[in-house]
Amino acid sequence: MKKTWWKEAVVYQVYWRSFYDSNGDGIGDLQGVIEKLDYIQELGADVIWLNPFYESPDRDNGYDISDYEKIMSKAGNMEIFERLVDEIHDRGMKVIMDLVVNHTSDQHSWFLESKSSLDNEKRDWYIWKQPKNGGKPNNWRSYFEPSTWTFDERTGEYYFHSFAVEQPDLNWQNEDLRHEIYRMMRSWLDKGIDGFRMDVINLLAKQDGFPDAENPDHISYLADNPGIHEYLQEMNREVLQHYDGMTVGEIPFVTPETGLLYVHEDRNELNTLFHFQVADEMPVMDLPKYKEIQENWYKGLQGKGWNSQFLNNHDHTRQVTRYGNDGKYRTESAKLLATMLHTLPGMPYVYQGEELGMTGVRFDSIEDYNDIAMKNKYKEEVEKGGDPKEVFEGLLLLSRDNSRTPMHWNDSKNAGFSNAEPWININPNYKSINAQQALEDPHSIFYYYKKLISLRKENPVMVYGDYEDLSKDHEKLYVYTRSYENKTWLIMLNHSDHEQVYQMKEELSGSDVILVIGNYKNDADKSILPSSFTLKPHEARVYEID
Ligand code: GLC
Ligand code: CA
Repeated sequence: MKKTWWKEAVVYQVYWRSFYDSNGDGIGDLQGVIEKLDYIQELGADVIWLNPFYESPDRDNGYDISDYEKIMSKAGNMEIFERLVDEIHDRGMKVIMDLVVNHTSDQHSWFLESKSSLDNEKRDWYIWKQPKNGGKPNNWRSYFEPSTWTFDERTGEYYFHSFAVEQPDLNWQNEDLRHEIYRMMRSWLDKGIDGFRMDVINLLAKQDGFPDAENPDHISYLADNPGIHEYLQEMNREVLQHYDGMTVGEIPFVTPETGLLYVHEDRNELNTLFHFQVADEMPVMDLPKYKEIQENWYKGLQGKGWNSQFLNNHDHTRQVTRYGNDGKYRTESAKLLATMLHTLPGMPYVYQGEELGMTGVRFDSIEDYNDIAMKNKYKEEVEKGGDPKEVFEGLLLLSRDNSRTPMHWNDSKNAGFSNAEPWININPNYKSINAQQALEDPHSIFYYYKKLISLRKENPVMVYGDYEDLSKDHEKLYVYTRSYENKTWLIMLNHSDHEQVYQMKEELSGSDVILVIGNYKNDADKSILPSSFTLKPHEARVYEID
């Protein structure tokens, strides 16, 4: 496939409100990001993805935007933002912003106008429907609410929201709206940013006629509807193709077949995507399933489109807790998952704190949580008669706050994140898991990530190599090769708390190999592959076959 800078990149995701608080109000901010850029540079990341910091009432942590061209005062201001972009570029890195254009805040002036009367100019910028048989227009549920519809008394119609009541969906059928969005995108790109992470971008087109769903709880009807590719191709023509940026679409409910349509290199839509087959279909590690998902995406995209690799972000519980072992083998397991994400085909993303092996969190009561998805679900279930304690317990593993607690910089008060009480509680384990300690320990998870990232720079096999799974029937071991030009890498991963033995493929057994990276102390860098290979708990090894 054609080589491009972004295919070779590693992205570091900064959830700025939990990264570093520069002015002592308990909330991270853009100036705080500037102050910690050397840290990100030390890790070696190429691109920084910043979660949304546009003006917002912050009901959904910035994903409810009230002005696309202003900056939330908690985050900073335009001058600081511009300085941040310069400082990132000065360090040889790039920066992408979150683009949230499926919906706005209900406080956006467009929505305030739209709801002011039936014949307002902006009425059609949102989705309004008349009541059906005196009730809601259909039976759909939204991500965060029991219904996608909220009634507006003044005009006697319902508006549509895929997320919270406070996040009305824009009507992409309206051409003026689309062109206003394209203008806004150009204005940010003209300020020098290097692209976008596009929030739920395959939700823009809605199902024609909004028919009732057979199973309203299965909300895939919100995504991937006819018309979406026309919008994205138009966006590409109007905006994206004029810049050498990168775009990654957040694309729920797609398979390799439908996902390819978004990222096929000949289709001029997006560069790469986040699909949710792992996050949505695999609540805990299920290695055979994970391998199958990797295989299908590899085959589906190979030679045509580019994948992305992640196991956590600001919406998903930290990976070492969800898919590894965050107790006895936390360090090994964090390094193992990193080895996997950085050696599978596709761009790796590192979510802040992942490089420290930060873990999920468990607060005592629902009041300690902030996540609107969790809080709304709690309310809904309790109102339906659920036992509050049971409902609460049931929501803990996947609460988005697991990954939103502040970054651990050191073992001082508030983990060195802020002088003030932070906006959300800190994970109490910061005394033993923090950046200062990691930077002082050459065997830390941090330096393991740094090595993986630097290997990518010297070894195109990690980026462009063909992939072959050599462990299809194994429950706990994941063994695969990547091959490019004259180089073959063998990756061996033990996803379990016990030793596992791998029967080496005939053609590999006896080969001379060089150890590229591994997460246990190894005696020899050069060795010969034995016919049966024992891997320690959560062991990861990458060999180059000589
Ligand atoms: C995306 C974001 C998530 C947000 C939602 C609505 O999934 O990652 O944080 O709540 O979209 O914008
Ligand atoms: Ca602050």
